[in-house]
Amino acid sequence: VINVVGIGPGDRGYLTPLALELIMQSDWLVGGERQLAAFDDFVGNKRRLDSRLTDLVGWLTANQHLTVTVLASGDPMLYGIGKYLSGALDDKNIRLVSGISSIQYLFSRIGLDMNDLYLTSSHGKTPDFDFILQHNKVALVTDTVIGPRQIAEQIIQRGLRRTLIIGENLSYADERIHILAPAQVADGYDLNVVVILNEGQ
Ligand SMILES: C[S@@+](CC[C@H](N)C(=O)[O-])C[C@H]1O[C@@H](n2cnc3c(N)ncnc32)[C@H](O)[C@@H]1O
Repeated sequence: VINVVGIGPGDRGYLTPLALELIMQSDWLVGGERQLAAFDDFVGNKRRLDSRLTDLVGWLTANQHLTVTVLASGDPMLYGIGKYLSGALDDKNIRLVSGISSIQYLFSRIGLDMNDLYLTSSHGKTPDFDFILQHNKVALVTDTVIGPRQIAEQIIQRGLRRTLIIGENLSYADERIHILAPAQVADGYDLNVVVILNEGQ
């Protein structure tokens, strides 16, 4: 069986007991370097996840008689590997287990409800900013190409008033949360998610 397990934002405290149980009972753990490093107490086999996802599907299919757990950051179904793997593998052999998304984590840290939130991503793609900025509450997972500064520029270019909340290295010891006007957003943030609020609403 192939488990695809959300491991939360990073700190083990945000991992569910079910996720931990499935991980520890696995023959193989598959994940990115940072994700595998979080389970250095796992004694089975480990496989590094790289960008060649078709290779991974072939390997998973060949090994589905074993218990293989694929680690997904946050929640596997929020801009995670869960979407791809659930499309590529047979439903009978895959078990998807939700985790706490980095975005959910950030909203609790800042004490803001997620009601009516528009969730999207600039991770590996250019979002439609005209569409996004019609919403009063937006959260994005990002990457190093389109991150906080590029998002702030889109707001400034349109002459809009918004507040940006940048959650950096969430749940890790070096976590930082910044609440800024677009003009105050510079370069140089680590792993981050961005919330765009229209507080005039
Ligand atoms: C491929 S997406 C995965 C999102 C994940 N499925 C989730 O629910 O959080 C990767 C992006 O998630 C965000 N992310 C994941 N973990 C984070 C953390 N601990 N702190 C800040 N951002 C994080 C970053 O924007 C990162 O580039």
